[in-house]
Amino acid sequence: MRSTELVVEGECYISGRFERACIGIDGGRIVAIARNLEGERRLDFGSRKILPAAIDSHVHFREPGMTHKEDFATGSLAALHGGVTCVLDMPNTVPPTSTPSALAEKAEAAAAKSLVDFGLFAALMPGADVRAMSGRAVGFKLYMAGTTGDLLVPSLASVEAELAEVARSGKPLAVHAEDESLRRKEPAEGLDGHMRNRNGECEASAIRKVSRAASGCRLHICHVSSKDSLPLVLGQKGVTSEVTPHHMLLDRDRPLGTYGKVNPPLRTRADRQALFLAFKEGRFDTMASDHAPHTIDEKKEDFDFAPSGMPGVETMLPIMMQHVRDRHLALATVVRALCERPGEIFGIRKGRIDTGYDADLVVVDFMEGREVKADDMYSKCGWTAYEGMPAVFPRAVILRGELMMRDGERVGELRGRDVVSDGG
Ligand code: NCD
Ligand code: ZN
Repeated sequence: MRSTELVVEGECYISGRFERACIGIDGGRIVAIARNLEGERRLDFGSRKILPAAIDSHVHFREPGMTHKEDFATGSLAALHGGVTCVLDMPNTVPPTSTPSALAEKAEAAAAKSLVDFGLFAALMPGADVRAMSGRAVGFKLYMAGTTGDLLVPSLASVEAELAEVARSGKPLAVHAEDESLRRKEPAEGLDGHMRNRNGECEASAIRKVSRAASGCRLHICHVSSKDSLPLVLGQKGVTSEVTPHHMLLDRDRPLGTYGKVNPPLRTRADRQALFLAFKEGRFDTMASDHAPHTIDEKKEDFDFAPSGMPGVETMLPIMMQHVRDRHLALATVVRALCERPGEIFGIRKGRIDTGYDADLVVVDFMEGREVKADDMYSKCGWTAYEGMPAVFPRAVILRGELMMRDGERVGELRGRDVVSDGG
């Protein structure tokens, strides 16, 4: 029998079901799966479940320029805690990731500090050198409404040539779909007012416009939040869609105040339930956290002045595992949206327990629940909108064959790799 560097053994999730198996790993990659395998080293997880780790394809790790909120070291530690071994970082940093040099500098900072693998989005702006950035970026991000950062593209006509370049590059175009021209700027005292300022039509209109103007691109509609948007994205050819845990689990009636202020906004119970149902039926392509940390001091501002966004990279997989445990969601649906589809859409060899894939794994014990507590979180922002929610945190997290976290404590030393430049 051939011996590999490492063998990970347990109840493995392979092709949609659990089986007792050995995963043979060489050079960080899965090279063999069999009932019995020899290895130089062995990690035996007994009867615990072994799943592919998650890819969070929408995070804001705030580096460079806003590292008082988060940075690649704290953000990636939070990711590991939540069973995420690869993050795709958004370009609304300071400076924005809108030039080849800004992209190269962010990649350098991330490679030095990140404990998980990463991909970087480049901003799609008028005049952006799409061709120069497309080799290095995991995708492009288009902001159709004002939000944190300075990347608003108010008219799609102003980026016609750039959109054509994105289409030629074959890279996905991730879209923050809210129509700036329909956004109201009335004073808001709470989540209901915020929702009215950015209503469902504001989102639906943006989706319609970008679907027309960027039909040649591989469109990926981020954080779909309104039930009225569902027919515009689900099952549409050439369009993939993302849902977040917060839009699916929280609504404007929660007493969260500014901590629930996020773009697009938390909406009504009916919206939340429609999103949950669509997710449960496997109709969304991906789930991502839109991890957008802001400090408690910033969130203590009056409602209109407090920034939008909430952390989530650390709680997404654990809360979804709880829903699996409670039989509200099928494990296959969760693995597809958090692991398999992000890998397929962004061209990353992760998200499956199969030969040729990176050995990125989480070990889960569905008998062990633990409440989400801000005190336990590694994110620099120090709070969570899910305080007290039951969750199943991973017992162990493995990145490319290296045990990185065990029982919530960091143990591994590996540095994250750029999934685009380093060959994924
Ligand atoms: C994001 C942030 O803070 O960077 N905020 C948010 O509410 N989602 C920006 C964004 O993507 O809108
Ligand atoms: Zn975002």
